[in-house]
Formats: sequence, C-alpha cells, structure tokens
Amino acid sequence: MGNAAQRVTGLGDAARLRILLDVIKAMSAETDFDRLLQLIMEETTRAMEADRSTLFLVDHQRGELWSRVALGLQHQEIRFKSHLGIAGHVATTGELLNIPDAYEDPRFNQEVDRQTGYRTRSILCMPVRNKVGTIVGVLQVLNKRSGVFTAADQELLDALASQAAIALENAKLYEDLRRAYGELKQLDAMKGNFLANISHELRTPLAPIIGYVEMLLSGRPGPLTDRQRSHLTVVEQAVQRLQGLIEDLLAFVQMDQGELAIQARAFAIGPLLEERGRLIMPRATEKGLMVEFGVPPELPDVRVDPKQIARALMLMLDNAVKFTPQGGRITLSAKAHVAPDDAPPGWQHGYVEVSLSDTGIGIPADKIPRIFDKFYQVDASATRSYGGTGLGLALVKQIMDAHGTRVDVESTPGVGSTFRVRLPIAEAHA
Ligand SMILES: Nc1ncnc2c1ncn2[C@@H]1O[C@H](COP(=O)(O)OP(=O)(O)O)[C@@H](O)[C@H]1O
Ligand SMILES: [Mg+2]
Repeated sequence: MGNAAQRVTGLGDAARLRILLDVIKAMSAETDFDRLLQLIMEETTRAMEADRSTLFLVDHQRGELWSRVALGLQHQEIRFKSHLGIAGHVATTGELLNIPDAYEDPRFNQEVDRQTGYRTRSILCMPVRNKVGTIVGVLQVLNKRSGVFTAADQELLDALASQAAIALENAKLYEDLRRAYGELKQLDAMKGNFLANISHELRTPLAPIIGYVEMLLSGRPGPLTDRQRSHLTVVEQAVQRLQGLIEDLLAFVQMDQGELAIQARAFAIGPLLEERGRLIMPRATEKGLMVEFGVPPELPDVRVDPKQIARALMLMLDNAVKFTPQGGRITLSAKAHVAPDDAPPGWQHGYVEVSLSDTGIGIPADKIPRIFDKFYQVDASATRSYGGTGLGLALVKQIMDAHGTRVDVESTPGVGSTFRVRLPIAEAHA
C-alpha cells in the first residue's frame, strides 16, 4: 500500500487510517439524509486530497442518477440518465474507473465543464454497493491536488464507499422510522379525540333515559303493574351498566390525555373494600361464585384518590367475576405492612396491600405484561362470550401510575389469578 515517493508527497498510511476512522465516526453519527450526503462528499474530498467529490445515487425507478449538492445554504438537485458519462459507466458496469486525464477519455462528457467553467483533469469513480451487492450509488472524485489518483487512493475510496453505503442505509431506515412514528403519533391523537368525543356524545342521551325510567319506577306518573315494574327494572339495570361503561371510557380518555388529576386524601380503605365487595355480590351469587373477605377491622388510612381507587377495584372485581367459572371463589383481602428502610417520599408510613384472588381461567405468563395495554384481551375471539372492551386494566394501570404504584399479577392458566396493589398509608393524625 503506497510507496515511499507517495509518502513524501501525499498522506502516509497512518494519516489515511486516521481520516478513515474519523469519517466512519462522523458518518455513523449523522442520521439526516441530506446532511449525510453532504458530509460524505466533503470528507471524501478531504481524505482524497482532491478538488471535489460527488455522491450520485441510483434511482432505479426512473433509471437515473441523482445528487443534491450544496450551493451556499441551498441544495440543488442534479439528475441525468444512469448510463451517461463516467458516473453512468461505473453505475452500469460496476467497475471502478481511474482516469488520469478526462479529456483523453471518450466516455467523459465535456459539455458539463463547458457549462460550469470547471476544468476536469483526473477522475476516480467508484461504485457504492449495499449489503447484498446492488449498486446504490457512485462516488466520484475530481482533480487530485498533486499528480493523479494512485492505487492507495483507490483502496481508501473503496473503504469510504463501503462506509457510505452503510451510513446511507442507516439514515434511510432512520428516516422511514421517523416518518412512521410521526404518522402513528398523529393517528393516536386522532383516536384519543375520537374517543373523547364519542364518550361525551354517548353520555348525553343516557341522562334522560335514566331520568324517565326512574320517574316511571317511582310510580308518580301513575301506578305500574308488577310486570311493567319488573321490565322497567331490567331496563334500569342495563342503562346503569351502559352508563358505567361510558364513565370508564371517559375516565380512560381523560387520563390518557392527562386531563384527569388524582386528588389524594387520607381515607379509610377497609369500608371501601367491603362496599365494593357488596356491590359485586349479586352478580357473583347469580354465577354461583363464593366471595370471601379477608379485611382486618383496624386498617390504617391510606392516602389515595378514593373515587379512582374505587373505580380500579370495581374493574378488577368485575374481571374476577367475569373470568371465573361457576363454583369458583373470589377472595378480597388487605393487610398493612411497615415501610422498608428505603421507602420513597410519601411511603414512609408503610403500605396496605390489597389482594384480589380468583379461581378463574387464569392468564398465560407471556400475556401478563400485555393485559394492561389498552384494548388488549387475551382471547379476543372469546370477547363475545365474556364481553368487555379491553380498557378496564388499562384504566387500572393509569390510576395506579398516577398514585405512584403498580399492580402485580400472578396467574396460572386453569387455576386462577391474583392481582395485588400497594397503597401508601397516610400519616396518622393525632
Ligand atoms: N381475573 C382475570 N382472570 C383471567 N383473565 C383476566 C383477568 N383479568 C383480566 N384478564 C385478561 O386481561 C384482559 C384485559 O382485561 P380488561 O382490560 O379488564 O379488559 P376486558 O375485561 O374488557 O376484557 C381480559 O380480556 C382477560 O383476557
Ligand atoms: Mg375488564
């Protein structure tokens, strides 16, 4: 590589290696496509001790070579048919060309020089190939400052071209990713707005339905027969269920858009657990499930948003009832624990751990991390028989996140599941 004469006039091997390393580092750091093109051309010119370099890219669809060159702050695009000129020859044959005097070579297009007033002397032109060997571009270097391009120059340009190919591919991937991410974010925002609007719209007509059903049931507009009363009661329950779903959807959307703030205060968790347990009793007994309580009478107060914690408990109890077959058992229990030594602020007084166990269908281990994703259901095909939207646990997670805590899940398919939540104990007041 390189002889003594060359070392005197040109860069030594060590210097070339250093330049190559610098260029590789710079190239791999650049993810903006246009800036990368510019960087490759500038660095190649510097490393090759030449006058100028151009990286032409192959546009396979249009059968053209193109490049963007900086003119001051502007970028100008050049395009020509991919078989024309020296670059075209290299792009079609895949052969490197080292031309000491351009005007001696019939493939050289002198017209370009006439138009630009530039005088091309020597040319070194190298194909740029991607991983699978397809020619994706041509790297062309003009006018070696002293003498002509040597074998060592060819080797250096070869190395630069391979690096350029990798960097270009990365930048392209990065750009695609960035675009896809932008589109996804926009879609997500649209979905959020849609959900917010739809839940508001659904809520509005429900209010008069509930109002009138309740009025009819009160007997004020006139006496009801037993049959009418029992039919209206079914309507009332269904509407209340619908209202609950819409409230959850609205809460979810508000949380998702950061509109629902947690309002934490010291609060007795024991009575809340019992009240929630009582609320699911009718559905549990109807399904032939046993409900057990393991809540000690003297639980300390916790510092939480009671409304949101009540909602989260209801969503988890709802799942326990839904996913436990007849004859099963649901256990709701709670226990106070002292704070560990490294308790974070707000948790120095210890915590109450609330556990909800069921003997239901269970969740496969690899699906557990996903059940808190919005709209996710382990068996979407079974949705019709179980019902639900897949939003419940996503809302539970949002609520727990907002409280600085999380839900731990243990589950064995066919045996049952346990959901555990830790809530911070409030400072005991005198
Ligand atoms: N106690 C449970 N036992 C078994 N699977 C559960 C339980 N709780 C949740 N899952 C699984 O997690 C999924 C997500 O729950 P959730 O977000 O509440 O949605 P939904 O109840 O509307 O289906 C459920 O569809 C179910 O597959
Ligand atoms: Mg649910």
